[in-house]
Amino acid sequence: MTEVTSGSAGFTPGEHMTVRQLLKFKCRDEKIPVLTCYDFSTARILDRCGVPILLVGDSLGNVILGYESTIPVTMEEMIHHAKAVVRAKTKSLVVVDMPFLSFQISPEKSVEAAGRIIKETGADAVKLEGAGDRLESVRRIVSAGIPVMGHIGLTPQSILQLGSYRVQGRSKGSRQRLLQEAALLEEAGCFGLVLEAVPSDLAKEITESLKIFTIGIGAGPHCDGQVLVLHDMLGLYEEFKPRFVRRFGSVARVMEEAVESYMQAVRDGDFPSRDESYTEE
Ligand code: KIV
Repeated sequence: MTEVTSGSAGFTPGEHMTVRQLLKFKCRDEKIPVLTCYDFSTARILDRCGVPILLVGDSLGNVILGYESTIPVTMEEMIHHAKAVVRAKTKSLVVVDMPFLSFQISPEKSVEAAGRIIKETGADAVKLEGAGDRLESVRRIVSAGIPVMGHIGLTPQSILQLGSYRVQGRSKGSRQRLLQEAALLEEAGCFGLVLEAVPSDLAKEITESLKIFTIGIGAGPHCDGQVLVLHDMLGLYEEFKPRFVRRFGSVARVMEEAVESYMQAVRDGDFPSRDESYTEE
């Protein structure tokens, strides 16, 4: 198997990434690239590339299952995809999103849900959205021995309340609230924090105020790492492109070309060739 590229702080080639190793990235001022991942074959590729964290995000509801939001995503769907990623036996740390309503009801139910994800998938950590009344759930899950990543700013599971996916933390009050939430999530035991759709200067202030690392998405360049939805950055999901997405590839075009070539070859009788067919012996 291809080794993870050297030069990453604390990530010894051939070793599985751990939460403790990840914390060293921030001390060494080394940025953390994170990508979402939802299946076995892709996990193999991202692992070969040495991506330190694979996030089985509930964005799979949008880009894999075609839901309009992440609200309908079920625990069974998250577990199904997380198992496929973990089966690739990646060296990357695998973090799994807790789906809507799996951690909002009570701290007890949150521990049960996080425990189910970890036990059934073999993933390394869970991520959950929000702070406030979620803090007790974070504390309880961490105290059960499960690493937790927080997620504040734009929290897509709150879309019904928010009304639209818009930048958070622009007013003085909301800025103060996010600074406080970040501090409280660190205190509650999160090992890292996703900051989604917040102004760059606020993300910078939060990042500098924390010992744990921040991973930005639409949060500017000052976070300790960045995350993008894989299908967005590959140019595979083309329904919608937020401002913060950079397309690093045009995979939809590559797929179209391959599919068209295949159809042409079938129509022309050029596929399968003799070499691609079995003989009697
Ligand atoms: O679900 C997801 O993919 C996420 C990232 C965009 C942070 O939460």
